[in-house]
Amino acid sequence: MALDTDKLNSLLGKGVSDFGATLHAACVRIGDQLGLYKGLAEGGPQTPSELAQRTGTVERYVREWLNSQAAGGYVTYDAGSGRYSLSEEQAFCLADESSPAFLPGAFQVALAATRIVPRMIEAFRTGQGVGWHEQDPELFTGTERFFRPGYAANLVASWIPALEGIEARLKSGARVADVGCGHGASTVLMAQAYPKSTFAGFDYHEGSIATARKRADAAGLSNRVKFEVAKAKDYPGQDYTLVTFFDCLHDMGDPVGAAAHVHQSLAADGSWMIVEPFAGDAVGDNLNPIGRVFYSVSTLVCTPASLSQEVGLALGAQAGEARMRQVVTSGGFTRFRRATQTPFNLIYEARP
Ligand SMILES: C[S@@+](CC[C@H](N)C(=O)[O-])C[C@H]1O[C@@H](n2cnc3c(N)ncnc32)[C@H](O)[C@@H]1O
Repeated sequence: MALDTDKLNSLLGKGVSDFGATLHAACVRIGDQLGLYKGLAEGGPQTPSELAQRTGTVERYVREWLNSQAAGGYVTYDAGSGRYSLSEEQAFCLADESSPAFLPGAFQVALAATRIVPRMIEAFRTGQGVGWHEQDPELFTGTERFFRPGYAANLVASWIPALEGIEARLKSGARVADVGCGHGASTVLMAQAYPKSTFAGFDYHEGSIATARKRADAAGLSNRVKFEVAKAKDYPGQDYTLVTFFDCLHDMGDPVGAAAHVHQSLAADGSWMIVEPFAGDAVGDNLNPIGRVFYSVSTLVCTPASLSQEVGLALGAQAGEARMRQVVTSGGFTRFRRATQTPFNLIYEARP
């Protein structure tokens, strides 16, 4: 056996970085929950003791946490003054929940997903699925916090305008169904943008629908936004102008059955917008840092979710456009195209 030392060192370096990142996820979650990043952003350069006082926490823990963050580049340390602070960029990514680059939601997802490992070890042996509703509840909130900033930045500004003629109809008043809506972040954002339209959010997960209703109430939208527990294959309503699926078609056991149901629920000139994780058609296209995130989430969450439902097609989160086209056209749609994209998402439009 002849080991290439350079290759070995490079792999070990990557391993150290990933080992640190795994532990770092837990520390990010702690800082996020306790308002440590926000406290740093609001208070400027601080000693551990000042940050602890500001956030109602204990100095010894805060000091250790700050050093973990400074070592990871998430906090800036000034050795001269012994103070810690956030640069503009660090504050933008860590302390501002409305920022399109807000990171703590992503770590909340990653950490929550790891809690399913014992079930997944068993599932790998048996082939059994694990439903979305069986995941740790932190996953539901994390997903909302992870996706919402991207939807806020893109959905109304570029994704809906990329659909053929839909924006004008939403502005003048139309009926929309948001299927697999989770906590309803996308539904609420659309309802805020199009005050003449009405929105129905559907998800099979009761807990998510209960939270979505609270979100609509808090936004003062309960008169135009209704949330109901329903599956993608049997949600109620007809003649929708727009049906949306945000990051959920690949999670479903029977996406072809879902497509057929969407087809019969749409108006003849209606549109189906499908938002999926960015992916190329070939595995080799996705072997990069973003693909790693999606394949890993897909292993722990999306694939078991689909396998837990009828049919269990298990598209996975990196299905790619060609596979999606097959699914959508098998459900009866005659037109399918990539309407737009971001580095993280593909936005498809299907028409009856
Ligand atoms: C990754 S989450 C996305 C949630 C939400 N669309 C968002 O973007 O924040 C996937 C959602 O699909 C829902 N889901 C999975 N299978 C479903 C089905 N067959 N019918 C309806 N909803 C389903 C899950 O309950 C979950 O809320």
